[in-house]
Amino acid sequence: MSEKCKKIYITTPIYYVNDVPHIGHAYTTIIADTLARYSRMVGMDVFFLTGTDEHGQKIEQAAKARGKSPQEYADEISARFKNLWDEFDISYDKFIRTTDPDHMKGVQKAFEVMYDKGDIYKDVYRGHYCVSCETFFTDTQLVDEEFCPECGRSTTIVEEESYFFRLSKYEERLLEWYESKPECILPKSRRNEVINFVKNGLEDLSITRTSFDWGVKLPEKMNDPKHVMYVWLDALMNYVTALGYGTDEKRMDYWPAKIHLIGKDILRFHAIYWPAFLMSLGLELPHHIGAHGWWTRNGEKMSKSKGNVVDPKEIADAYGLENFRYFMLREVPFGQDGDFSQRALIDRINSDLGNDLGNLLNRIIGMSGKYFDFRIDSEGVKTHHASELEEAEKIFSGIEPYLYEVQTNRYLEELWKTLRIANKAIDTAMPWVKMKEAKEKEAMATIALVANILAKVSVLLHPFMPKTTQTIAGALGFAITTEQYRRLIKEKSLLESFTIKKIPPLFPRIEEPLVETPAKKEETAKEEKKQKRGSEKRAPSETKSEESGANLITIDQFFQVQLKVGTVVKAEEVPKSKKLLRLQVDLGEEQPRQIIAGIKEWYGPQDLEGTQVCVVANLKPAKLMGMLSEGMLLAAKDEEGLCLIRPEKPRRPGSAIG
Ligand code: ME8
Ligand code: MG
Repeated sequence: MSEKCKKIYITTPIYYVNDVPHIGHAYTTIIADTLARYSRMVGMDVFFLTGTDEHGQKIEQAAKARGKSPQEYADEISARFKNLWDEFDISYDKFIRTTDPDHMKGVQKAFEVMYDKGDIYKDVYRGHYCVSCETFFTDTQLVDEEFCPECGRSTTIVEEESYFFRLSKYEERLLEWYESKPECILPKSRRNEVINFVKNGLEDLSITRTSFDWGVKLPEKMNDPKHVMYVWLDALMNYVTALGYGTDEKRMDYWPAKIHLIGKDILRFHAIYWPAFLMSLGLELPHHIGAHGWWTRNGEKMSKSKGNVVDPKEIADAYGLENFRYFMLREVPFGQDGDFSQRALIDRINSDLGNDLGNLLNRIIGMSGKYFDFRIDSEGVKTHHASELEEAEKIFSGIEPYLYEVQTNRYLEELWKTLRIANKAIDTAMPWVKMKEAKEKEAMATIALVANILAKVSVLLHPFMPKTTQTIAGALGFAITTEQYRRLIKEKSLLESFTIKKIPPLFPRIEEPLVETPAKKEETAKEEKKQKRGSEKRAPSETKSEESGANLITIDQFFQVQLKVGTVVKAEEVPKSKKLLRLQVDLGEEQPRQIIAGIKEWYGPQDLEGTQVCVVANLKPAKLMGMLSEGMLLAAKDEEGLCLIRPEKPRRPGSAIG
């Protein structure tokens, strides 16, 4: 088959509409966009899908909390995703919404096919459900008998009639797939994780719910209207309903997908459930599932409650969309986590883009203008710079695999090597000396070598930075097209004679961060609030009644609570618990007290042993995970996290507080 008509299908996850887009979403979408643009440039017939995931309990609850209908709410947030991708010039071919009627019909069709095949049966589901992760868990998977092992939130007990998908039936076939297609999961290092999970045994999957409404109904012929489909069955099916599965199947020839790009958080759904569903439907499996790592902020998870979410629009507006794209795709090796910082972004812009790429272009604009009135001829390149050219061509023709393995950082690293070759060629050949020695041809050859390397770099960088690279190509007198890709990269041709155009610097140096950090913003907001409060004139009595209301207690009531200073003599982790630490605290009594404290997220045992804490000493003992807790630590918590209240100077264990 010729490359020309080769079809290629690339997808992003469909994002939940309970949250507005942040850099994590932008990252996945930008990777996918880059692969799609590359594939188009090399002449493939691309279908690039993104969209929003709009059903399920989480969305229903989020809508309710805002006093909106789920549809109204989904419309609103879905539009925010779509608008952002449009502003970001994301070259998607379809934006799917799981509330699209065609999608819903397709999901029903899939349910029917699986049912007719005997892969779906009705039973009762008993277990736990995490609404935030939209995931079922068994008793043994929970942390502290209650909390979600993925996100730590409280789970709810579910006992309801449910249809089940025979996931267990596909265990062997899944293992065979991972075995026979070692590259089905990228990066390859993640494959073992999935294999181990499957080898531990797969339970059949509950795929319908009856306790809420906001979902795709079962096919009419099931005659069971109280059920809606499990949101993950609904969501995963988007990858084929977008091609018309179950309705108008004219685009099904894009299937199977070349790659589903996702974050590592949803690998299990994509690498286990999805292929099992496809096997049941008798459809081919995707070539790759590419799971990237997690973006954090100063080492912490980004979340609305912490107020540390990075707004991709704000960053792109301040630093330039394409510079931001370059940064994301260059900064972290695929699959690994990355910490977002403006400093790192600024360094990449100043160094990789400004110094390496921008300056090189400026150098040849300057020299070609000064010596040759901007007119360049590539004739002498092969005579005077054969080895440099060969070295660079080798890189140009060898980097494509990195891209389809989603090693965008390696791809860019390799590409940048050719800029180094070019810079070095100028430094060694010194065209300005050649000009003085009247070796004009040699000077021309060096400048032409560099111009040609820049031309080829701009082509191969085009999918990453579409507009900037067209500007570079424009300065070199050509436009980036599939035809030029074929000539300059595939056939290794050189630009013949052309005229360089002078353009302003592409990457002006950035000295200081351009965007106020969320933390800083918060401070400013707090400060403003304080000032506002201070300037409001209110009668003291009014303030008092407003702020303390009817919750006044007497001093006697206060002293009913015994607060004491204690010294932590021993601290250890509670096995299997993400939250709890087990402490022995000396309160000046015969024996230290055991206190089980939910502070592990913020303190490790070593932060506590030998330090002092404040303890509520007359609290009724309670059992946590089967362990007795005889007291409670005082602590303060805000969006920055939790901190313990400690005496300013050490006090004797058992000293009263009050
Ligand atoms: O999971 N770092 O949707 P979702 C990197 N609807 N990537 C991040 C990220 C971060 N901090 N945060 C989010 C869902 N992402 C389902 C998907 S697909 C059939 C259904 C990206 O809105 C990453 O791609 O929670 C992750 O997988 C995705 O957003 C999760 O988006
Ligand atoms: Mg999520």
